Amino acid sequence: MRTFAIHTFGCQMNEHDSEKIAFLLKEKGLLPLEEGRPDLFIINSCAVREKSVQKLYALLGRTRKWAEKGTVVGVVGCVAQLEREKLLRHFPHLRFVIGPGSYPSLTSILDRVLQGERVVETRWEGKWWETSGALRRRPAVAYVNIMEGCDKFCTYCVVPFTRGRERYRPLPWILDEVKRAVDQGYREVQLLGQNVDSWRWEKYRFWHLLDKVRKIPGLKWVRFITSHPRDFTREIVEIMAEGEPITPYVHLPLQAGSDKILRLMRRGYTQKEFLQKVEMIREKVNNSSIGTDIIVGFPYEEEEDFRQTLQVVKKVKFDNMYSFHYSPRPFSYAAREFPDNVPKEVKRRRLLELQSLQAEIQLKKNRTFVGKTVEVLTTGRSVKDPQAFMGRDITYRVVNFSCRRNPIGEVLKIKILEAGPHSLKGEVVDEG
Ligand code: 5AD
Ligand code: SF4
Repeated sequence: MRTFAIHTFGCQMNEHDSEKIAFLLKEKGLLPLEEGRPDLFIINSCAVREKSVQKLYALLGRTRKWAEKGTVVGVVGCVAQLEREKLLRHFPHLRFVIGPGSYPSLTSILDRVLQGERVVETRWEGKWWETSGALRRRPAVAYVNIMEGCDKFCTYCVVPFTRGRERYRPLPWILDEVKRAVDQGYREVQLLGQNVDSWRWEKYRFWHLLDKVRKIPGLKWVRFITSHPRDFTREIVEIMAEGEPITPYVHLPLQAGSDKILRLMRRGYTQKEFLQKVEMIREKVNNSSIGTDIIVGFPYEEEEDFRQTLQVVKKVKFDNMYSFHYSPRPFSYAAREFPDNVPKEVKRRRLLELQSLQAEIQLKKNRTFVGKTVEVLTTGRSVKDPQAFMGRDITYRVVNFSCRRNPIGEVLKIKILEAGPHSLKGEVVDEG
């Protein structure tokens, strides 16, 4: 066996897990293959919404042809943790299923896979999964894990069942990895965890960690994803207020605007408390930028509840938003105890209404950037125009621009010329 490829669904945590898995495989002498049929094909799956699971099944179906030609195909990640043997039964060409609970023993499990054993490993080891490196896929931005798992048990969410209880990575390991990333030329680090604000180690809390990371020389920007409104404290805001390299961007999932739905979701805050957190950020942090996640059509969501969500969206004017219609997830409290009683059509209509409101808000906000010059960390080629490049500014806005040379990994000054709801377009100032 000589080559491998990994297909990743889902969040940055999953992407980074794939980078760690790739590192372990490379240590075993396998080479990453960008195109064509690899000897080993791993799918890192996501279970957070029904749609991502359907995409996994579709991809698995397509891998049968590769398996017939000799590729060893396996599934890791959140769906692996949930479905275990069931996946092997459904897809006879699958050779292994490994859940995040077993990643701490991944090296030895992969040895068994490489020796030809058909493996299912989803035991909860409850330890922190530390690897001696990661085969980073992204230029410029290094993902750094700081915690994993979730103890919140929001009623719609499968995460506590796929990622387990919270585990925190020790402070010195985090700082070491950030320093190494800077030495390797990364300009930005993203501190990752399902609930970064609840990170703790010995006497240190998350804001201590931010304070230590920001003092590491050579870092342009530090971001952290994802926050939970309940744990997002004044101390964190005060560190953010110190400015660069900490960026003024917070991902603060609202999920729903009405107190009734927030209670049914077991989010642990009210609309008023959420708005107070937003106020605190806006008051103290220069240029603050807030992103959010929203679910529409949660059980018992009536028109009036949905209007409350729209109200909050209008009030806060989020800088970006990911929005979803509710789907019941295995093991979650809502799937067991509540009927999925908002009709599909209603969910679809609410989602469209929410998204068009948000697009209007984003367009208005983005237009205020036209004529300004912003710093952009170039992360790759533009999605729409492969001749152009893309990056993000300090507020996490996507900026597309053209450049005569390849500036990936560099921070450039870009003058903004146009704004759309989802991105900005500009030109390089003083292109040497
Ligand atoms: N249905 C719809 N969206 C969900 N999310 C999590 N669980 C569900 C579900 N059962 C959304 C939340 C979360 C994001 C990662 O996915 O908004 O913040
Ligand atoms: Fe899921 Fe809630 Fe935990 Fe986020 S905080 S991972 S939504 S249970």
